Amino acid sequence: MEMSRSFHHFDELHPWRDRQHMLECISAVAETADVMTFTFRSDKPAWFRYLPGQFVTLELPVGEEPVMRTYTLSSSPSRPLSVAVTVKAQPGSIGTRWMFDNLKPGMALKALGPLGDFSFVRHPGEKYLFISAGSGITPMMSMARWMADCAPETDVTFISCARRPDDLLFKSELEVLARQMPRLNLGFLVEGHEARHGWHGLRGRIDATKLPLLAPDFLERTVFCCGPEPFMRGVREMLKAAGLDMARYHQESFQPAAAPAAEELAVRAGLAAGTEAAKVSFTMSGKEVTAVAGQTILQTARASGVRIGAACEGGICGTCRVMKISGDVEMNHNGGILDDEIEEGYILACCSRPLGDVQIEA
Ligand SMILES: Cc1cc2nc3c(=O)[nH]c(=O)nc-3n(C[C@H](O)[C@H](O)[C@H](O)COP(=O)(O)OP(=O)(O)OC[C@H]3O[C@@H](n4cnc5c(N)ncnc54)[C@H](O)[C@@H]3O)c2cc1C
Ligand code: FES
Repeated sequence: MEMSRSFHHFDELHPWRDRQHMLECISAVAETADVMTFTFRSDKPAWFRYLPGQFVTLELPVGEEPVMRTYTLSSSPSRPLSVAVTVKAQPGSIGTRWMFDNLKPGMALKALGPLGDFSFVRHPGEKYLFISAGSGITPMMSMARWMADCAPETDVTFISCARRPDDLLFKSELEVLARQMPRLNLGFLVEGHEARHGWHGLRGRIDATKLPLLAPDFLERTVFCCGPEPFMRGVREMLKAAGLDMARYHQESFQPAAAPAAEELAVRAGLAAGTEAAKVSFTMSGKEVTAVAGQTILQTARASGVRIGAACEGGICGTCRVMKISGDVEMNHNGGILDDEIEEGYILACCSRPLGDVQIEA
């Protein structure tokens, strides 16, 4: 890679503000056996503007049809000339596995974003409790890196949980950050039965006994939690039972919540058997289809061969945003669309169901 091409004085750069970008991979680093960090720069002379904790959606050329996958930017906007994602390949993974096997420096990927609300910038507090499990550490890592660079006096207790000591992501970097941040307190927790000899940290799962040991003043803190759904549910219930003001609890889900049953959705959308079926017109592809009761606009589009890009399929990532030209939908999003986008007429196809005839720009 040519060094001179990558060097720009800051005042020659413009901010990253389009919704879609090409990102050029500049490094691929293994963090653990099943986690890698990929770092990218913009293909244009640009600096990256995003909030610590936000995510992007990458288009991965896995096969004939690309797949979209959403990843938190684990990097910090305080170092705005590159961005990084830290990704875990679960067994059976398609998208992330493709990155492990194929993504090398010099390759470019299409990216949508940044987006997301899971940031202390959006939910500021006097002091923070970050609590993560596995790859759920990525948004907290972005926030901690930003704080170390820009607000090192911030009071943070950071609890990172993993199955085994070897799975604890960024442990040594966090220890370096704790030397730069006098009020960053670290707690590492690994599940007991798999913890190796020589592990001196706490063992077991986070519970009402261990939490006060790691964060005695947790009730005074603004909490950010990210990890698998059962982990977050456990933390949420524990904090609620302990009396935390839940307005100070924030979580990020990497997997959309299970969708309500099709029959319930159909009834809610007024599309139960016997009611008049809604027509969905896709204006760009010139197709008009009768919606099946309870189907989303995305499902209707797919069934009729209209392509709308989608990643999370749960109203989180914003990838499936389309313009609704006319008609009404019931949209149950999870933060993947902004209020002003809704006002402009956009909807998220993956979580919108027609409430009558609609026209969609797709
Ligand atoms: C807002 C947001 C931020 C995210 N940030 C990150 C991040 O920083 N790092 C990261 O690694 N991922 C992150 N994800 C998750 C990521 O988008 C993918 O869903 C995940 O990596 C799985 O994609 P895949 O291509 O590996 O597997 P897929 O090809 O989608 O799935 C393959 C198989 O794995 C199962 N599977 C899918 N996801 C999971 C899971 N989470 N746990 C267990 N099994 C699963 C599926 O059921 C399927 O059987 C984020 C998701 C969201 C919505
Ligand atoms: S696909 Fe993620 S919001 Fe629709």
